[in-house]
Parts: sequence; structure tokens; C-alpha cells
Amino acid sequence: MENNILKMPDLKQAASRSQKASQVEHDLFHLPEAAQTLGRNKKYYLRTYGCQANVRDGETLAGILELMEYTPCDKPEDADLLIFNTCAVRRTAELHVLGLVGALKELKEKHPEKIFCICGCMAQEEAVVKEILKSYPQVDLIFGTHNLYRFPQLLLDYLDRKETTVEVYSQEGEVIEDLPVKRSDSCKAFVDIMYGCNKFCTYCIVPYTRGRERSRLQADILKEVQQLKDQGRKEVILLGQNVNAYGKDLGMEDGFTTLLKEVAETGIERIRFYTSHPRDYSRTTILAMKQYPNIMKALHLPVQSGSDDVLRRMARGYTAEQYKALFDDMKNEMPEIAFTTDIIVGFPNETDEDFQQTLDLVDYCRYDAAYTFVYSPRSGTPAARMEDSIPAEVKRERLQILNEKIAHYANLANQPYLGQTVKVLCEGPSKKNDKVYTGYSEKNKLVNFTGPDGLAGKIVDVKIKEVHSFSLDGQAL
Ligand code: 5AD
Ligand code: SF4
Repeated sequence: MENNILKMPDLKQAASRSQKASQVEHDLFHLPEAAQTLGRNKKYYLRTYGCQANVRDGETLAGILELMEYTPCDKPEDADLLIFNTCAVRRTAELHVLGLVGALKELKEKHPEKIFCICGCMAQEEAVVKEILKSYPQVDLIFGTHNLYRFPQLLLDYLDRKETTVEVYSQEGEVIEDLPVKRSDSCKAFVDIMYGCNKFCTYCIVPYTRGRERSRLQADILKEVQQLKDQGRKEVILLGQNVNAYGKDLGMEDGFTTLLKEVAETGIERIRFYTSHPRDYSRTTILAMKQYPNIMKALHLPVQSGSDDVLRRMARGYTAEQYKALFDDMKNEMPEIAFTTDIIVGFPNETDEDFQQTLDLVDYCRYDAAYTFVYSPRSGTPAARMEDSIPAEVKRERLQILNEKIAHYANLANQPYLGQTVKVLCEGPSKKNDKVYTGYSEKNKLVNFTGPDGLAGKIVDVKIKEVHSFSLDGQAL
């Protein structure tokens, strides 16, 4: 089969930040007429991997598909169209997707009319796209994160030519509004406030796969939040790779705090935001969090390492002392605040001493929870070119030691909840046991609880009867 290569990814080009902010266009989504009934009597299977930004993209994809009249299904065998919306942050995530797509080769051979698509962050990587073109002929369409809105047109192109079609932009130019969305949750909603990242932490592929920072206009964000509130949603989660940089490209002074306050003023019941960068965190944001009761006092503040040397080589732009000072400032202003973080172990040449400093920092911050990772080299990033003398075995041991410490503090942080009443946004029955409800408290604790029928979507007072390291059990009052 021939290939229809409209545009291949290029990591070097993706790393360029030469365009001026004013060149970012804000445009509206348009569905080509020929695509409007493409999915009539057809089914789609969509699998999304990775962070909330990807989950939100998955909601847009589902929205676009349903606008084309496709209906969802749960099994690849039942689908006419299969889409894998992928994550590139660690190699394990990529191998998982490639394994799954590999296992579906037979399905495509038996049913060549089924259409296989790969999109998301993996599609932005040159090496991965080449690997797919070479070894995964079952894949028909590859498109990236910047041209998701072009999906209907690309599908038409593919159907026209029946050749493997690739279109990945390596430089982003637009912020597209009015994209359709099929929200996966009925009580809370993700709201993108900005796309991309300019930080270029040396281990991270995101600035390449998601491009430079582009903010949505404040008016568009507020309109979306207001609509969500009017629909009865209780919680919005503002999303960006580095939310504290919101508005810089729009020339706003202290853009994130300004936006956060405006969102709080809408009166929506709960507001959270991900992800914060310690370096860009402004004091005004701390004060806004303190001032507005509907901004939840639970903050995810990735530290990555407790060693200044590692932090410097990661290009994080702060020292452990500076991080601790920010942490203390927030604790002083809001003593009840809950903290979570991200930590990478086994960054190239991380010494035992460096690792000990990470453990010391965890002892200092006593996090409520943390996501911990073994460093995974990402092709094209500066850290992937660093020599590394640390054996994989040592890295795995460090992860285990760290995880034990994290679990210890998570458990300690949960103990005071025993016998207390917390407010839980009830998401509905738990997936594991439909006799039990599940939801999150204001401090973002996972709470499983019993109660009368009809609590889904409501904020419920729950009395905590049992505490675990990573969840609480209780009963609705
Ligand atoms: N290897 C391991 N973990 C990584 N992260 C980002 N890039 C890598 C990598 N190359 C982690 C960071 C980030 C989280 C989303 O993923 O901790 O905060
Ligand atoms: Fe990656 Fe650093 Fe940007 Fe986060 S801030 S997305 S870790 S480059």
C-alpha cells in the first residue's frame, strides 16, 4: 500500500519557539459537509492514554465523532473506526499502545474495511511515526495534537485514497474554539485554559509534542465555565501543562491569578487546576486560593527531585530551598491545604546522596500523595543525550524506597479524617462495587461511601468510618 504523507513530525522544528505570540490565531471549528454523516450506522472505539490534557482531547474527539453520527462501542471487534489517543511521556506508555495495536493486526487483516487511527503525543514523535509506518501496516491514519480539529478532513482524505495517511504539524499556529465535546463526566469537567509548554525541562517530551504555550482567551474560558455551571456541573478543573504561565502570550500581567479569580466569581462550586510549576507560582495566586472558598485547598505541585544538582540538570529553575519556601508560604496562609507532587527517580547520574535529598524533601513536605516515576529517556530531549551510570536495578530499588515513604505519609495524612465529616462530590457508583458510591472530597481524597439512592452528581456530607493510605470509607449523613 502507498503512503499518503501530508506532513511528518519533526522534533527539531517542534523545539523552535520563534513565532511571535501575535501569530497565534484564534479560529472556529468547522465540520466539512462531506463528513457530516460519515458515521451513520457506524461505531467507533476510542482509547485514551495519559494526562488530563489527553483525556480532554479524547472528549473532543468523541464530540467530533458523534457530530459525524458515529456511535461509541466498548470492543475493538465491534468498531468500524478505532482510535488510539496516545501518550509519549514515558516509553512504557508507548510500548503499551504499540503492543495493543500489534495485537489487533489480525483484526485488520480479517476486516480491512475497519479504519485504524493513531493520534496524540506519540504521533508527534518522528521515530515513533517511522516505526509505525515500517512495522504496523494495520494503521491507516496518523494525526497529531495540533491538528486534531482536522480529523474529519483527514478521514475523508484517507477514504478517498485508501493509503496510510499521516498529517502531523510540528509547529502550532492556532487555538480552535467551538470544538464539539462529549464530556466523560456529568458532575465535573475539564477546561483547557492553555496548550503547550515552554519550560523544556530536560527530561520531558511535552514541549515537543504539545508545542509552545498558547492561552485561550479569558472570555472563551469564562463562557465555557458559565455553560458548565448552567448545566448543573459542580466542579471545573482548569488544565494546562504549566497553568501559572497562563496569559503570558496574551500580554496579560499576572494572567493566571486574574483568570482564577474570574472563574471563582462565576460561583461554580469547586475549582481545581493542574499542573502548577513552582517557578512561576505567584503570591497573588496563593492569596486568591485563600480568599475564595470555591477554590479547593488541594494543590498538585510537582517537585521532581530534592537535589539541587539534579534540579539544575533537569532545568527546573528552582532549588529545593526555594520549593520549600513556597510550600511553607502556602501552609502558613492555608494550614489545612493538602499537597501532592510528582517525583522522578533515576535521572541520569543521580547519586545516592541526590536520592537521599529527595527522601529528605518528602520528609519535610509530608505529601498527601505523590506520583512517582523511574526516569525514562525520551529521544530528542537533552537528558536522553546525558551519559548515565546508574543501573536499572538501583533505580527500581529507589522507586520502591520512595513509594514506601509516600505511602507512609499518605496514611498519616488520612488518619485525622477518622470520625470527621467531609464534603464529597458524588460521581456515582464505584466501578468495583455498585453498592458503594465514589467521589472526591474538597482536599481531593478518594472517598467510597454508602447512602440512599439518588446522590450521584450531588455534594454530600460523608462521615468517615475507616481510613486507608489512598482512600477513605464512610457513610452519607
Ligand atoms: N521520565 C519519567 N517521568 C517523566 N515525567 C515527565 N517526563 C518523564 C520522563 N522522561 C513525569 C514528571 C511529570 C509527570 C507528568 O511525568 O514527573 O511531572
Ligand atoms: Fe514537561 Fe517541565 Fe513542561 Fe511539565 S513544565 S510539561 S515537566 S517541560
